[in-house]
Amino acid sequence: MKLRRLRWSLLLLVAASCRGSSPLSPAPDDSPGLTAPTDKNSDPGVLELDLVAKVATVELVPGVKTSAWTYNGTVPGPFIDVAAGTKLVIHFRNDLPQSTTIHWHGLRLPNGMDGTLAVQSPVMPGGTFDYVFTPRDPGLYWFHPHHRSDSQTERGLYGVIRVRGSSEPHVDHEHVVVLDDVRMEADGSLPKDLDDYSLLAPDLKVHGRWGPTILANGRTDRVIDVTAGAIHRFRFLNSANVRYFNLTVPGHTWRVIGTDGSLFERPYDTNNLLIGPSERYDALLVPNGAVGSDLVLKTDAFQRAEDDTPQPASTVAKLHVVASMTTRTLPVTLPGVAIPRLPIPDGDPIPIEFDSGTQGGPEGYVLPPEEHDPVVGKPGDPIFVINKKAGANIPPIEVKLGATKKFLIHNVSHQIHVFHLHGFFFQVVDTDDAYDPVDNPFGLRREMMDQAQKDSITVRSGYSVTVVARFDQEPGRWMYHCHIPEHSERGMMSEIRVVP
Ligand code: C2O
Ligand code: CU
Repeated sequence: MKLRRLRWSLLLLVAASCRGSSPLSPAPDDSPGLTAPTDKNSDPGVLELDLVAKVATVELVPGVKTSAWTYNGTVPGPFIDVAAGTKLVIHFRNDLPQSTTIHWHGLRLPNGMDGTLAVQSPVMPGGTFDYVFTPRDPGLYWFHPHHRSDSQTERGLYGVIRVRGSSEPHVDHEHVVVLDDVRMEADGSLPKDLDDYSLLAPDLKVHGRWGPTILANGRTDRVIDVTAGAIHRFRFLNSANVRYFNLTVPGHTWRVIGTDGSLFERPYDTNNLLIGPSERYDALLVPNGAVGSDLVLKTDAFQRAEDDTPQPASTVAKLHVVASMTTRTLPVTLPGVAIPRLPIPDGDPIPIEFDSGTQGGPEGYVLPPEEHDPVVGKPGDPIFVINKKAGANIPPIEVKLGATKKFLIHNVSHQIHVFHLHGFFFQVVDTDDAYDPVDNPFGLRREMMDQAQKDSITVRSGYSVTVVARFDQEPGRWMYHCHIPEHSERGMMSEIRVVP
């Protein structure tokens, strides 16, 4: 790790001197709408904060009041921004009318801090829980409830975590952008089906909740100031339940330098950066345009699955050109950042087959009652299964601490799914959904498969993805599930038991 960072600094020095222009300064941060929490601890190695889940009135659409569920009163919640190795002490209080938990998505942490119902009881209204852990892997992460997450996250309970490495790529500007979408009534209220699953439209029960109101850091009218010619690093989180962001700035190309908990030694270029639910992507962009003009950050149309309603194109935010400079050249490689590849174990992979059916349907799928506040359906409602079983009926996968395992995730359903693993990163090693610029533009990029260390990956209808993970950390009960919460709350969630 140390060596990797050192090599980075050397490279940057060389790059800066070769260019002959002024050396790159550390990136001024410009992430409008994201605010740091108050640090109650004077020790620079500790960030200690109060985090309160509560109902608050927010303005997602300018001039329109929405009663949302929030962390500390804002959507997104407080921006947790720390150097790797900083200890987080989070005093959580639940002032919501419903029980909840907080999961720290993508972070490697002690099992008891993972915020799932496998490791803690839900925090009741008025209750408290202290989450204490130390993020060590640079990257972009997030937090959200792991209890009724279909409705709770959709109501606004999410926040972003940036873990900075000791030597990040030097760029001119950096922006963290949290993407979301909501369905709201004209008066700004959120749909009643968040209180009552039986009111949810059948196609949203099947495919997940999504809506036409697009939020960037909690607003529909977000403006990010940019400098033409400068290198801007955009770090995106997709916190939406099921919307895919197919990001483009017309006339521009992204240079993709990382995802989830990894940077790429060999970045790749794309005009459309596709980000599935819960994924994070890190991409460089050099804006061009006259000072005073606006560029549009938009999401292009995307079809999640054949029998799903296509997502139309929409504006996400504006990039307002406030200055210009001599155009910088983007780095072609980022030497030294590569994550070592895991050995691929011989033998058959552990199968994880995603399918769906209906309650009381011919498949005979049964959703066992949950202990806490379940999402109760009725005959005809969808059930989502892993290896033909739902929820607590799925046998846990037992893995020995230290083992490296291979999983074949096969989506035989008619919906899109997002495989997410808690507590450990995985590496994608194979897929039948490989990218091809003409035939399969939304397939998995080879460069990503060779370099990424991920916690979430899309598995499209009819395709499969093989991943390898090393269970070298904490023993315990670690969830894996589809990250479309309407699917995980209705069966598509189980656990890996890492045993000593
Ligand atoms: Cu972000 Cu188990 O989820
Ligand atoms: Cu799913």
